[in-house]
Amino acid sequence: MKHLDVYQVLNDKSLLGQTATVCGWVRTFRDSSAVSFLEVADGTSFSRLQVVVDKNALSLDPECAKTGASVCVTGEVVKAFKGEGAELNAKEVKLLGKCPPEYPIQKKRTTLEFLRSIPHLRLRTNTFTAVFRVRSVAAQAIHRYFHENRYYYMNTPIITASDCEGAGEMFRVTTQPYGVKAASEAEYYKNDFFGQKAGLSVSGQLEGEVAATAFSKIYTFGPSFRAENSNTTRHLAEFWHIEPEVAFAELPDIIEIAEEMLKYVIRAVLEECPEEMNFFDAFVEKGLKEKLLHVVNSEFAVCDYTEAVEILKKADAAFQYPVEWGCDLQTEHEKYLTECVFKKPVFVTNYPKAIKSFYMKQNPDGKTVAATDLLVPGIGEIIGCSEREADLDKLVSAMKERNMDMSAYQQYLDLRLFGSVPHSGFGLGFERFVMYVTGMDNIRDVTLFPRSVNNIM
Ligand code: 4AD
Ligand code: MG
Repeated sequence: MKHLDVYQVLNDKSLLGQTATVCGWVRTFRDSSAVSFLEVADGTSFSRLQVVVDKNALSLDPECAKTGASVCVTGEVVKAFKGEGAELNAKEVKLLGKCPPEYPIQKKRTTLEFLRSIPHLRLRTNTFTAVFRVRSVAAQAIHRYFHENRYYYMNTPIITASDCEGAGEMFRVTTQPYGVKAASEAEYYKNDFFGQKAGLSVSGQLEGEVAATAFSKIYTFGPSFRAENSNTTRHLAEFWHIEPEVAFAELPDIIEIAEEMLKYVIRAVLEECPEEMNFFDAFVEKGLKEKLLHVVNSEFAVCDYTEAVEILKKADAAFQYPVEWGCDLQTEHEKYLTECVFKKPVFVTNYPKAIKSFYMKQNPDGKTVAATDLLVPGIGEIIGCSEREADLDKLVSAMKERNMDMSAYQQYLDLRLFGSVPHSGFGLGFERFVMYVTGMDNIRDVTLFPRSVNNIM
């Protein structure tokens, strides 16, 4: 269909006085004695286009006045009565699709919780239009950052035989029919599609390391899957994961890269999504823009885990989980550190090796690893990061301590045998990042079709 985007009609000054056709969905309808007003959205811009219908010149099909109806409007582009933009004086309004009154998205404010029950329709609201436009702009900016800095984009496998995080949170991939009998677990998997146990990848890191030890700088941007039974506002069973891997980088180098990348992407969102960010600032998180401007213009904090534990032990806060050196930090601890102590993003570094993954570089103290989590206000951890253990013997002993099946990691070990180099990488949870920049406080509201325990709508 020949037509223009609403974005174009609103912004292209050369269209003033011209005839234009737009297509979209009716968001609101208002009526007075002489004119009717339709607000039409097509998703190409946060603002909607006001269509003015002169009742003496045009008789409007009443179906076109219903919220949610799809229409095709031709008219003259004129300067808007109010504000900067343009509006359309209708010459013809054609109905494309009726929208009966059961349409669940009506003008009265609906809750985010209700909208979660209609994931196929909620994108037609202001909030979700804004979230997903920001999400798209952020994804483009991430690719741009890495491309401009000569990183190569790698697509690592989604089906895998090795569990990167070793936390036993893999979904299994199988084609075995229901009730199949096997004498042992080994035999069961031998008869399965791949002839061995397979699952959905929790992280592309191990394959990312393979690529980084050839290209030096790579990144992945794809889905990761975690069968963790955490029904929280920041966990999904399927999330998008950005994982750069950099050869010849030690922990301080990768921290610098993570900070620079985040600032680059936040700046891009502020610049490219002004209307959406104004909306979030006004209706979702007051002061959001100022917070983000402060983030891009200041240094992130860095705090040693041991020091963080001391701070938390002295904290004047009633934590549900007690804190001792050696414990994993809970969300409440993470939030306290970043919200109450540092009041900005903070890298907590050098965690106890027992609570972290096998691949992390062991520090000379014998107790900690060169790992860091980036914590941000409102969410807690958004990045998991580490320097990788490059020493074959140390890596093998860490794997043995964890009773890992060495045969599944032979290729990974080879990277330490053939020209091993110091290297580091991190994983950024894309949905958590989108939550951070939009101020949305439930991960299910920044994901098209969120998957979590008991939920695959
Ligand atoms: O801290 P994680 O588990 O680290 C890794 O997977 C490393 N292999 C990354 C690397 O070094 N290449 O996960 C990284 C990030 C977390 O900080 C979080 O933002 C996100 O992934 N994440 C989740 N996001 C949503 N739902 C979940 N269930 C998530 N689990 C992790
Ligand atoms: Mg982590």
